[in-house]
Parts: sequence; structure tokens; C-alpha cells
Amino acid sequence: MDYLEIEGGCKLSGNVTISGAKNSALAVIAATILSDKEVTLTNLPNVVDIRTLLKLLTMLGAKVEHNDTVAKIDCSTISSTRAVYEIVAQMRASILVLGPLLSRFKHCEVSLPGGCAIGQRPIDLHIKAVEALGAEVTLEQGYVVAKAEDGLKGNKIIFDKITVGGTENALMAAAMADGVTEIVNAAKEPEIVQLSEMLNMGGAKVEGIGTGRLKVHGTNGKPLDFSEPVEIIPDRIEAGTYLCVGAITNSEITLDKVNVEHIQTSIEKLEAMGCDFYIKNDSVTIKPVAELKGVNIVTTEYPGFPTDMQAQFMAVATLASEDSLIEERLFENRFMHVSELNRLGADIWLKGNVAAVRPVKELIGAEVMATDLRASSALVIAALAAKGTTKIRRIYHLDRGYDRLEEKLSNIGAKIVRKKS
Ligand code: EPZ
Repeated sequence: MDYLEIEGGCKLSGNVTISGAKNSALAVIAATILSDKEVTLTNLPNVVDIRTLLKLLTMLGAKVEHNDTVAKIDCSTISSTRAVYEIVAQMRASILVLGPLLSRFKHCEVSLPGGCAIGQRPIDLHIKAVEALGAEVTLEQGYVVAKAEDGLKGNKIIFDKITVGGTENALMAAAMADGVTEIVNAAKEPEIVQLSEMLNMGGAKVEGIGTGRLKVHGTNGKPLDFSEPVEIIPDRIEAGTYLCVGAITNSEITLDKVNVEHIQTSIEKLEAMGCDFYIKNDSVTIKPVAELKGVNIVTTEYPGFPTDMQAQFMAVATLASEDSLIEERLFENRFMHVSELNRLGADIWLKGNVAAVRPVKELIGAEVMATDLRASSALVIAALAAKGTTKIRRIYHLDRGYDRLEEKLSNIGAKIVRKKS
């Protein structure tokens, strides 16, 4: 099993180019199912989750040409609508094929995705959304079996809880439905905006883009035509992660190809901790600060502070000069990184869904274990500032969502090597 070996304490400097957003790319790839013509996607991140979803489309019968950041996907040849357990178990975002398969083929069977380290991850809201459009959904031997023999019909979908994936499935289900669908309490993440704009371009008119109330004019069974290439938006979580690298190592680093609008909360929180920034077009430079102040964070849906940045900020807070309080409101178990950060000498205490981070003078390198994608990046951040050597095991978690992490960090002076045990 691969592990990362990091020599901490180095000053970093230079530029990091931010890749395309994994979480937007996954929804965009699923949306190509709605077309019977070839679609070109660009600026894809080179990460495992993207390859997994492209493999699923291939298993369904689609033709996929994929190199590094570009994919050409032709779903005219899809011959199966059964997303098998072996793939869905690897990546729960495979559930995003539910809406488009149902909308285009009027039936599908998608394995129930497992939970994961951060929580139970139910899909009840996804099912409620497609049932509102007339689908009949049953659970059979671990599979969600959805049928709509007469096709989906436009209707009102009210989400009592904001769900990114649920909103994406609702949008894609509504895209080829007969009539207009209104989605109330929709997620507003940048990936929802990108998906909505893509569906618009493909011929399903979407109104209210960027708001919590979306209106989708379905094509009534006519496949969408994504005639223009779709360029994946920059990854706001990758960008926030590298800003945290700069903050904890007291280094001046510049991120290129970012969307500054999408990382406002990360910038604002690091400013509150004492960091300065220089912003020019799609580049952001973080200026070092000798002493970081404590920070208070409550995770919430976009445009609030993202849960996907919670672990990374906790790592930075371990070396602040004051206490920090971090409350996780979206997932019930997203503190798996706490015990591993404490192994590096941090002083973090948990009470329910609140973590109290008390300042320590230094972190000391140790052997630690990654538990989920963002927890892994928090351990890398801490290791870069820890004294001595840190070994991070189970880094397959990292490979799911960070494109060429070691290369990008080495290019700005980090001593980081991937080794085999
Ligand atoms: C997406 O997951 C992201 N994944 C997650 O990023 C991110 O943490 C999450 O949104 C929140 O921003 C992808 O986009 C592939 P949700 P998703 O549905 O869609 C509950 C990463 O690190 N819920 O918005 O699964 C759910 O349990 C990953 O890149 C239901 O109760 O998240 C959670 O408490 C981790 N029923 C809350 O809603 C449902 O049917 C938010 O979940 C669906 C969700």
C-alpha cells in the first residue's frame, strides 16, 4: 500500500495551478447520459473518482475517450441501465446516474451507495425527487429500482433539507421530463450552477440559476444536445486546501486558475486568522503571517463555509496562538481527522459536533492514517508544518480527489515522497 513521507518545516514558495473541480465534473459526466450525441468535457481533474465514473458509463455501454483532462463521451450506445454494486460501492457519487438514466431510458437500477467514514449518507431525498416526477421506486436486493413507463412528468420538488446530489439528480431527471419542474430549497453550490448552465445549453431551459428556487423546462423525452465543449470549473476545495498549506507553513504561494468568487469563505476565514491576500484576475497569493489567530467555524451550505474545508482549517488551527471552535453541521461523523491530528501533537477536544482546538507550540511528525478524502488533506497540511518526518498511510483516499498532489507540493518546495510499504 502506498504511503506519503513528508519532511515538515520547509518554507514553500511558488505557484500552484488549480485543477478542475471533482464534484462538478462528476455531475457533468452523469449529465452526458441525457444526450445521444458525443459530448466533449475539458479541464477534468486527473483523479480516481473521475476514472471510476467514466468506467461506469463504459459499463453501461457508452463510448468514452479519456486522456488526462479531456473526455469525449458518446452515450448513444448505452445498452444497460444497471449501475452495479462493485462500482457504486467504490464511489457513492455514482448515484448521480439515477436521474439521467431514468429521464432518458424511463428505467434504471442503481446499487444503493454505501455510507462512508463521514456519515450514513442516505439518498431518501434523491428518491423523493424522482418520485415527485412520477417514478415508481422500489428497493430490491440492495438496488434502487426506478421506473417511469410513460416518462417523467414535470412537478414541484420541495427539499426539506438542502442536498447537493439530490438537487443534481432532480435537475437531470427534470431535464427530459414532460413539462415544467420547480425545485424548491435547491442547493446553490457552483457545481449546481455549472450543471444548470450545461442543461440550458443542451436544450432543457433552467431558470433561477444560482438561487435556491430552480425551474426546469423539460424536453419531453427529446435527448439533449451538448454541442459546445463543457469546461469544468476550478476546484474551490483544492484551492482552499492549498491556501491552508500556505497559512500553516507561513509561506507565500500563488494559486493560478482559481475562481475567487467560489473561495470567498476560505479567504475570509484565513484573513480573520491574520493572513493577507493579493488577488489578480484568476490568481490568488497568500502572504505569510508569523502568528495565526484562532478561528470560529460553522459549516453550512454554499455560499456559507464549506464542510469540505472543515478538516483542512482544523489542521491550520492546531498551530494558531489562540483557541478555535469548529462546528460541523452537515455530516454526523466528519471528525475522523481529530485523533490523527492529535497523534501529531495537536490538542483537540470533541463535544458532539463541536471541536475545540487548543493551541500547541509545535506539531511533531508521526505515523498517521488517512480516513477520508478531506481528512487526508488535513494530515498533509499538518505534516508540512510538523517537526521531523510524518508517514501518512491509506492515501488512496487522497488519490480520489486531489490531482497530482505530491507533484504540486514538490514544485513549491515541499519534501514529500510517495513510497510503497
Ligand atoms: C456532496 O455530497 C459532495 N460530494 C460532498 O463532497 C460534500 O461534502 C457535500 O455535497 C456537501 O457539500 C460530491 O459532490 C460528489 P448532500 P452529497 O446531499 O451530495 C444529507 C468531498 O469531500 N442527505 O448535500 O452526498 C446528508 O446525509 C465530498 O468532495 C440526506 O439526508 O451531500 C448530509 O447530512 C464529501 N438525504 C446532508 O444531507 C439525502 O437524500 C448534505 O448532503 C441526501 C443527503
